[in-house]
Amino acid sequence: MKERKPLNTDELLFVGKKEDLISAQRTVVSLQGRDVLIIYHEGEFYAIDSYCYHSGSSLETGDIEELNNKLCIICPKHKYKISLCDGEGLYRARDRSQSPPPLRWFSKGVKQRVHPIIEIQGELYLRPATSGYIESDYYQDVFCFIHKCLT
Ligand code: FES
Repeated sequence: MKERKPLNTDELLFVGKKEDLISAQRTVVSLQGRDVLIIYHEGEFYAIDSYCYHSGSSLETGDIEELNNKLCIICPKHKYKISLCDGEGLYRARDRSQSPPPLRWFSKGVKQRVHPIIEIQGELYLRPATSGYIESDYYQDVFCFIHKCLT
């Protein structure tokens, strides 16, 4: 995959009116060639890249659950769990360091790109997070390339 073009981080990107995003609950917006899922859940907004880091499925219809004290979206395709706050991938397995090994949550590290979202006078803006490379960037590149070819 070729080197990705950096997003402009100097400006906030308009996402939409707060009341519209609340009534929609989930909205996919295309910002600077990036498809971002905006979620309104229990009074909070979250912005997370739309395509799952595992295999590129849309996260738009994923269930939301609190797992290991983190609010997570569960990818509809293979049920990977992703923290909405920081994009951390979580999985549950036996902890072999203990006997008998109990089930507990483990971290895969940050796998999905999330973005800060800011409210200004009833409108929401996103500040694109661009640092480093995160696994979900691969599917952003693939799908944005396909969208560009189709339009
Ligand atoms: Fe999301 Fe596989 S595509 S878990």
